Amino acid sequence: MKIRNQTRRDFVWSSVRAGGALGVLGAFGPLACAPAGEGGADGPGPQRILILGGTRFIGPYQVKYALDRGHEVSIFTRGRTEPPFFHDYFERVEHLIGDRDNDLSALEGRQWDAVIDNSASIPRWVAMTTDLLRGNADRYLFVSSISAYADFAAVGIDEGYPAGQLSSPDVEDMSEYGPMKARCEAINTEVFGDGAINVRPGLIIGAGDNTDRWTYWPVRVARGGEVLAPNSPTDPVQYIDARDLSEWIVRLVETPGNAGTYNATGEMQRFGDMLEEIRAALGSDATFTWVPTDFLTEHDVRPWGHLPNWVPPEGETIGMNQVSVAAAVQAGLTFRPIGDTARETVEWWNSLPEERRAEPGAGLPAEKEAEVLAAWAAEG
Ligand SMILES: NC(=O)c1ccc[n+]([C@@H]2O[C@H](COP(=O)([O-])OP(=O)(O)OC[C@H]3O[C@@H](n4cnc5c(N)ncnc54)[C@H](OP(=O)(O)O)[C@@H]3O)[C@@H](O)[C@H]2O)c1
Repeated sequence: MKIRNQTRRDFVWSSVRAGGALGVLGAFGPLACAPAGEGGADGPGPQRILILGGTRFIGPYQVKYALDRGHEVSIFTRGRTEPPFFHDYFERVEHLIGDRDNDLSALEGRQWDAVIDNSASIPRWVAMTTDLLRGNADRYLFVSSISAYADFAAVGIDEGYPAGQLSSPDVEDMSEYGPMKARCEAINTEVFGDGAINVRPGLIIGAGDNTDRWTYWPVRVARGGEVLAPNSPTDPVQYIDARDLSEWIVRLVETPGNAGTYNATGEMQRFGDMLEEIRAALGSDATFTWVPTDFLTEHDVRPWGHLPNWVPPEGETIGMNQVSVAAAVQAGLTFRPIGDTARETVEWWNSLPEERRAEPGAGLPAEKEAEVLAAWAAEG
């Protein structure tokens, strides 16, 4: 469909829905370090933790941090995805093989203190695991998404804001990713009660993210020169470093008493400040040309897909980068400097094979960026 057949708001929202479900996943490369040797000194002592998933993006950071804190870790996967880094840590983990869709036999008759569920978006999967593990685990943390909200038409959305509704109870279709996440949360809460924790991340960023979304920015800034930047340096942005999220998830679930639902994205920041911090951390000569939303729309530059992590702060997306994280901060979520994340992401990206880097999954292709910058310059 041609863009001019849509209103700008429709275009923005459908672009975000189509290309930006906050949960697209993938494979990896090496790197990254969480603080080591904490040994759970400030925690509850060794716990038996089951991670449903564990080998793709946030899972490996959870595995490393949990082991560093002295916990015993089991992971449950199909055995297909190879952990991208921390291989020596995975040698200390119990690997349980099965399939969330139809084979949970490896979990039968076992007991854990806490479960971290990374790998579900389908409510039936959460119904099956919570049913099997009730009575065999004290706490169940489900990794949801801020996509669970019905919309982002308000600023400062907190955990009480309405969730999206499924078009029918049994739907299993990623076009209803957000409502499915909301239903997964509800099942967890129904079954685990005061042992249920639901965490709603915003865009997760950092080394190992094969969706290439936020990665676009540090990699583009590292290349230097004139960078097309979205709309205005004062537009809001939020993101959560994969290590900050993963380590907090382990701390939340290792201790009783943290039941509840938490938005888990970064504190609100201005897009211009984020890019400046990335530039400073990378020592780049990049300059930023801020091109207004209308001009971007006219030139078919899509929010989120082409300019990752950015949506116009208006209409149905006004609140997407302005979600409240007060509850999570109160519960101990912390944020590392974005420059650290940028350096590690670029280091990881540069370690990937050239063929992989040649076809990034998100961002504005260099030729298109040059074309739009030239057209904008011609406007005077
Ligand atoms: N990326 C974002 O920006 C973002 C934002 C908001 C929320 N989220 C949510 O965050 C979570 C992140 O997941 P992640 O990939 O980083 O977690 P992860 O725990 O690192 O990896 C996902 C794991 O699921 C396993 N898996 C996939 N299908 C399975 C099945 N049918 N049965 C058993 N295991 C299966 C995979 O291993 P095998 O392939 O070997 O089975 C893999 O280990 C997701 O729930 C996502 O919706 C992501």
